Amino acid sequence: MDIEQQGAGSWIPRRGTPPISRASGCILYDVDGGEWLDMTAAFGVACLGHCHPAVVKAVQDQAARVMASPIGLYTETRAELLSKLVELLPGKLEHVFLCNSGTEAIEAGIKFARLQTGRRGVVSLKGSFHGRTLGALSSTWNPKIRKPFEPILDINTFVTPGDLEALDAALTEDVGLFLAEPVQGEGGVNVVEAEYLQAAEKLCRERGVVFMLDEIQTGFGRTGTMFTHEALGVEPDLMAMAKGLGGGFPIGGLAYSGSIHEALKPGVHGSTYGGNPLACAAALAVVETLVAEKIPARAAEMGALAKAKLEAALEGNPKVREVRGKGLMLGVELREKSAPYLAALTKDHQVIALNAGQTVLRMLPSLTVTEDELDRAVAAIATVLS
Ligand SMILES: Cc1ncc(COP(=O)(O)O)c(C=O)c1O
Repeated sequence: MDIEQQGAGSWIPRRGTPPISRASGCILYDVDGGEWLDMTAAFGVACLGHCHPAVVKAVQDQAARVMASPIGLYTETRAELLSKLVELLPGKLEHVFLCNSGTEAIEAGIKFARLQTGRRGVVSLKGSFHGRTLGALSSTWNPKIRKPFEPILDINTFVTPGDLEALDAALTEDVGLFLAEPVQGEGGVNVVEAEYLQAAEKLCRERGVVFMLDEIQTGFGRTGTMFTHEALGVEPDLMAMAKGLGGGFPIGGLAYSGSIHEALKPGVHGSTYGGNPLACAAALAVVETLVAEKIPARAAEMGALAKAKLEAALEGNPKVREVRGKGLMLGVELREKSAPYLAALTKDHQVIALNAGQTVLRMLPSLTVTEDELDRAVAAIATVLS
């Protein structure tokens, strides 16, 4: 199929592959019979690999039973998913609001924090990405994404991760919410230090500010534990989730503490599709498989292996500034823009990777990626950068 014919009428840039007609594990198959190694898991959503049999079966079975249910009527699948999530949630997190995407989970967080504190202000980090609806966008740092829509909600202050003095000054009496990703994904695969997040949580507690983590990209095993913050010694009041939770099916969620729960009155927030039976069936299959097959621990192991392989293959390469990341969330920071190298990976090696900011080449493969697939990706990256 002619690549130029694809997506007529869409402004979204194409990646240079013919349309994809099916996918399995880390491989995408196109309509012309071509195969592509997907090191993105579709932005991290296909955490068990594309079309994992357990997820496919759960969605097929659910589609034949009940596909739609209003938020006030519990379905068996939603009830099971919520119990399973609550069982898995660490620390203070005891309840879950279900929605359809990451940005909606962030919106819910901003609203719940307002209800809890009565304050409008939000503090988030330079380098952050929290979504594209107006509330989440106002807390997203990247000026390229934010500026075209300004003035947006005038509620946000951005501080540099690690700078506690700046945070101390920013957490004024108007601020009700501190929001951060434990590892910034879109911003460049920047690991935020545990000590900083611990100090931030302490400051939030002292000032009555809600402490929220965005685990939309880092959650569900991506960095080597079910939720990244479990390994960081912090206990958020709110945690946003999406991406990996659905294994490819759209779903988002906001986990929240008992004290936030008390501030919520019936009808104060909602979503027509939130808790949709198909989405819940997919998510339940994902969560059960992650636990049964100990996938987070596998991600830790494969991530360490992949990082070591990348470091060895790129050692001494003058184009490379650093290889970094956590688990299977990996970035290669270049001394120049990453876009031409990503295009070469696709065109010359049939490998699909992602950018993160302007200069970082990012890999977010399925957590079930094999060592052979990692070897193929690393060799292709080393070749395009040589
Ligand atoms: C950390 C983070 N937060 C929020 C979002 C927004 O999620 P969605 O695209 O599902 O709205 C993303 C998406 O890339 C993300 O990585």
